[in-house]
Amino acid sequence: MCGIVGYIGTSEGRDILIDGLRKLEYRGYDSAGIAMLGEDSKLQIVRCKGKLSGLEGKLAEAPVSGSLGIAHTRWATHGRPCEANAHPHRSGPFALVHNGIIENYALLKEELESNGHRFSSQTDTEVIVALLDHEWQQVKDYRQAVRNTLKKLKGSFAVVIVNELEPDQLVAAKKESPLILGITENAFLLASDVPAILPYTRKVIYLNDEEIVFISRSGFQLESLPDGSPRTAFPHWVDWNPIMAEKAGYKHFMLKEIYEQPRAVIDTFRSVIDLESREIHFAELNLDRNLLRQIDKVCLVACGTSYHAAMVAKYMIEALCRVPVEVDLASEFRSRNPVLNERVLLVVISQSGETADTRAALKEGLDKGAQCRAIVNVVGSSIARMAQGVIYTHAGPEIGVASTKAFTTQLIALYLLAAYWASETGKLTREQTAQMIQDLIELPSKMEKILSDTDKINGWARKYMGFKDFLYLARGTLYPIALEGALKLKEISYIHAEGYAAGEMKHGPIALIDTEMPVMVLIKHGPLFEKMLSNIQEVKARDGIVLALIEGETSDAIGEAGNQFGMPVTSDWLAPVLFSLPLQLFAYQVAVLRGTDVDQPRNLAKSVTVE
Ligand code: M6R
Repeated sequence: MCGIVGYIGTSEGRDILIDGLRKLEYRGYDSAGIAMLGEDSKLQIVRCKGKLSGLEGKLAEAPVSGSLGIAHTRWATHGRPCEANAHPHRSGPFALVHNGIIENYALLKEELESNGHRFSSQTDTEVIVALLDHEWQQVKDYRQAVRNTLKKLKGSFAVVIVNELEPDQLVAAKKESPLILGITENAFLLASDVPAILPYTRKVIYLNDEEIVFISRSGFQLESLPDGSPRTAFPHWVDWNPIMAEKAGYKHFMLKEIYEQPRAVIDTFRSVIDLESREIHFAELNLDRNLLRQIDKVCLVACGTSYHAAMVAKYMIEALCRVPVEVDLASEFRSRNPVLNERVLLVVISQSGETADTRAALKEGLDKGAQCRAIVNVVGSSIARMAQGVIYTHAGPEIGVASTKAFTTQLIALYLLAAYWASETGKLTREQTAQMIQDLIELPSKMEKILSDTDKINGWARKYMGFKDFLYLARGTLYPIALEGALKLKEISYIHAEGYAAGEMKHGPIALIDTEMPVMVLIKHGPLFEKMLSNIQEVKARDGIVLALIEGETSDAIGEAGNQFGMPVTSDWLAPVLFSLPLQLFAYQVAVLRGTDVDQPRNLAKSVTVE
């Protein structure tokens, strides 16, 4: 939540900072602001409530300029969205942008107020810059004042600071909120996430928790916050390119990302499958067959859409590997004192690799000695670095707030993990593993087919966009997809939608069924088919509207063919990937027709880095 950018170099930095904010707007868009130090070393600060476009409008009238500056796009935590609460915040010669939450801000604020400081915002961030000003007045040494200030903060932060008195220096630090340093020939950039710096460099240092970096135009010094000792940093090459973070002619990032899924799925499985031998090798997972044989419980932990991927994986891992699997929301897992030890495999799943609760759950696992692994999309993210092994999804940058390609590639990574585990421990024969791989190889063309045949889904969107409530029903591996379909609809179209295990219908939700309640039903051939047909009859008997995604041919038993969308046939384990696509398209079309902000829906942020 919140995106921050910093620039120090030899060129004009304003457009670089604004461009960086544009790439980070997915992290929050309640307000935006910029602070630059011009040639006279005076701070120029412009802030605006609302999206970046508002700030750009203000800058057109009151331009700022300089070769050093900071910028921020906000997702409000403390203090409502308004200009006074927008970053950068200033005190004396200092201006600062912040991502995170300062838990002891109220206490610090009280102390500062008793020393005569007057605050102009309701934010926790203003406390940091006021404290810095206060510390500086005590010690008259900038670096020492920064150290003293940051040591007094409880909570999470990534901060970038400019100072009129030392106008050739940017200072940045982090604890539990992401921050990267991009290195170019003649400039340094700081950002919350890689897309902000991709047009300028792919050479990146991922700052660690409790590190401070002092950056001049000629170099930087990294040190440990707790003891001031120097730290060495090794740059990484990011293998994303700038074009991947553009819309490429699509109306929205979400639509582009929906259509990128066949490619993303191929990239994800190609990174671990040897197509010749039909074997699976995870280069960075660090989980061999000896270790797998010792595992007697799996905990899958995640938030939001990633949690739905975990739910699908429970079915796969239990069925194929015959080991019990618990699935938890990260926020609950971390607070329920879970039973963990060295025989438990904890796998956290996160697109961003920065979600605060997921990260805390991983820390809980590490502290309790569990085997901790992660499935992550963003290379170098906090979770990727904390875990003892990683499977990377190769979705590329996902900018739309609603997760699409990150989700389906997570499903692929988990499918591969289950297949690898089962084959390494002798639960699957070589032939069975090869068949699972063959199913996977055939999947992208089936995905293409769904994505090229959108007329019916678009028609449903036109017909049902005005309804106020939707129900999504499914069983087995498609049940989590019902939850995910409902989440997609509510987060981008603001229509109330509930996903339910179809077997639960009679235990409550059936009371909701009437002519005003479209019911999206996900139905696949196999042992659960007849039961799903019965559920459909129960909905129809109460005048509910049935929209069915059905594997194979449409069925008279379901009703008129116009309300059925035929899905390509695949295994139970891969059906969740296919069934996700029409649900994503449906949610997208409904949102577009209702005129909502598809890529940046209200109140949401892509990366939930606060608890
Ligand atoms: O980056 P993560 O996968 O950890 O994010 C978890 C959720 O915040 C995320 O999946 C969220 O639910 C999406 N907006 C849903 O589309």
